[in-house]
Amino acid sequence: MKSKISNLRPALHLHNAELPDFASLRVERYYRERVQNTWNGGHIMRGRTPGANALQLCSNDYLSLARHPAILGAMAESIRRDGNGLLMSGIFLHGACPQIDLEQRLAAFMHAESGVLCQSGYAANTGLIQAIADERTPVYADMMAHMSLWEGIKSAGAKAITVFHNDPEHLERQILRYGPGIVAVDSIYSTTGSVAPLREIVAICEMHGCVLVADESHSLGTHGRNGEGLVVELGLAERVHFRTASLAKAFAGRAGFISCSKRFAEYFKSESNPAIFSSTLLPHDVRGLDATLDVVRLEGWRRQRLHANAAYLRTQLDALGYNLNDSQSQIVSLESGTEQQTIVLREALESRGIFGSIFCAPATPKSRALMRFSVNAALTNAELERIVTVCRDIRGEVDLASWPSTRRKHRTRVGAAVASNGVIDAAPRRAEAA
Ligand SMILES: Cc1ncc(COP(=O)(O)O)c(C=O)c1O
Repeated sequence: MKSKISNLRPALHLHNAELPDFASLRVERYYRERVQNTWNGGHIMRGRTPGANALQLCSNDYLSLARHPAILGAMAESIRRDGNGLLMSGIFLHGACPQIDLEQRLAAFMHAESGVLCQSGYAANTGLIQAIADERTPVYADMMAHMSLWEGIKSAGAKAITVFHNDPEHLERQILRYGPGIVAVDSIYSTTGSVAPLREIVAICEMHGCVLVADESHSLGTHGRNGEGLVVELGLAERVHFRTASLAKAFAGRAGFISCSKRFAEYFKSESNPAIFSSTLLPHDVRGLDATLDVVRLEGWRRQRLHANAAYLRTQLDALGYNLNDSQSQIVSLESGTEQQTIVLREALESRGIFGSIFCAPATPKSRALMRFSVNAALTNAELERIVTVCRDIRGEVDLASWPSTRRKHRTRVGAAVASNGVIDAAPRRAEAA
């Protein structure tokens, strides 16, 4: 029998139009510099195929909801009942409809007046910045803020002003220099799991008349008593102008959200390019997220388990000598440094059945590539122990002691010992690379 692919193949010889030099040179540079020179003909992301016993730490499904029967049941029922609905831009939605109802439910959950569902977290961030900034607006972005916020700044034609990571003093100095504008931060940073000092940032924004945008992609669902996010947990809901979130993390779906005022929501739907010029969600996405919201609120044990799992892993990996770069969340990363070192780390982990996500340029600076573990609520004690054992066993193989991040960790320890005692009272331990 013929395969489906060969059934589709046209009889003609396939040939794409040649790219002119200005475009083909970029493609060639990728193959030469990245594939050949850096990855030795392979691909940094493409290692082994996970076997049946593999532990997958690459999914941002923090609450382990991707196979929740109530959510899948609601989605299946919607597909049977509504099919794929009306395929159109969200600008045409009005009156009583499930998507607008869900926007109100999500907004109320986040203690906000209103909100807008977007196709993704990326569309939420780019659309929002594009809708509130123009070429006269300084946008102060933490150097580790998500790429979609930077892309929003670009598409607004606004002035991007970089702020040192989690450094409120630097933020204030920059605002004093360039004037009031928009401050864009992630509540929890996706690369290393560090947490933004939101209280200080809010105070600075208020003092200097700035608009604050906090991306809650990695805290919505996981933080707050019922998963309302870090801003609500800290009691700051009324003091943050906009919260954005990808619903492809703890909400385990495909969408994005912006919390805002009612008046702004109307404006956004008619003025932001992704809201106007890109089709809106499908009915089963909306129905699934509606069911997910109930689960997120009611199954608090998932949050507890997630935080216990993450705290355990952080403590153990820190004690093994890994520099976790201030992670205080469910994102735990091993910063191996160069891309070559990261390929060695990937192979060491994957050959032992541990699969994480590699982050390298452009997601990190070139020399700070890393392996990210996204912890989830379903990990058992035995599985956590297995991760720790593997990370203990591979320290020599991956040359942990030579990683720049390891050396930074030791310098910080020595600095702290000097600061507290005036002398180095404890010889800095080298990473116990067995
Ligand atoms: C902090 C942050 N914001 C936004 C996004 C984009 O979200 P989405 O995958 O829904 O487009 C991501 C995901 O990569 C993220 O980590």
